[in-house]
Amino acid sequence: MIILDGKTVSQKILNEVKENVSKQERKPHLVVVLVGNDSASKIYVKNKQKAAWQTGIRSTVIEMPFDTEEQELLDKIEELNLRQDVTGILVQLPLPQHIDKNKVVTAISPKKDVDGFTPENVGRLAIGLEPYFYPATSQGVLMLLDEYNIPIEGKDVVVIGRSNIVGKPMVQMFLKRNATVTICHSYTHDLESKIKTADIVVSAVGKKIVRCKMVKNNSVIVDVGIFRDSDNHLTGDVDFDYVSDSVGFISPVPGGVGPMTIASLMFNSSKIYQ
Ligand code: GUN
Repeated sequence: MIILDGKTVSQKILNEVKENVSKQERKPHLVVVLVGNDSASKIYVKNKQKAAWQTGIRSTVIEMPFDTEEQELLDKIEELNLRQDVTGILVQLPLPQHIDKNKVVTAISPKKDVDGFTPENVGRLAIGLEPYFYPATSQGVLMLLDEYNIPIEGKDVVVIGRSNIVGKPMVQMFLKRNATVTICHSYTHDLESKIKTADIVVSAVGKKIVRCKMVKNNSVIVDVGIFRDSDNHLTGDVDFDYVSDSVGFISPVPGGVGPMTIASLMFNSSKIYQ
């Protein structure tokens, strides 16, 4: 069994991004918009800022209070869309309930949409056009698999979870790489039999769902989930200690996909379109 070491691979990518940024004449500037007080979001945003510093990407965090009106946020995005000195815009999710997330994401200029969440970028990916940006987590998962030379073409891949942030773009990106993809979710019957046939499993659920007896020998297991268990330990979707005995490759939590997402986001943030 080989550990997919996201911590080490992400550092390598961050160093490459840093090198590229140092050669750029026009410097990238990422603006992160954080609405409200979600504690997990605050930690994510801090980590993104740290990575930006490490790579020489200018970053600004705009904090807006929880009771910000939707229109105020839309106006802020429009201002950032128009600003020549801003090359990337990221609105941290989740947003407070009174704000329509889809309306906000749609307002971001596709050429500054470093998350790859706007309808134009999602649509481009879906119809086989190059999006301006690929969603960071899915791109990070593929960067990790590629670093270990894990073949994707023609492989049977199971993606568990169908979120717009991870599951759906992950499916599109595996299709683009000519994998055969099955997408599973809370209504899926007999998840076990689906996982059992998979060469590659990507789990993005946020619950302990992938157990030892489910996985195929020598398969590749990528754990996108991260949450705290009843003992307050950070853990992932996969029963790591048991599953790791039989699989070929497995990503740990923490230290797997998490740092890859950040590195992938910095890779995106270093790109400048206008
Ligand atoms: N919240 C959880 N993951 C993400 C992400 O990748 N991007 C944004 N903007 N918010 C998130």
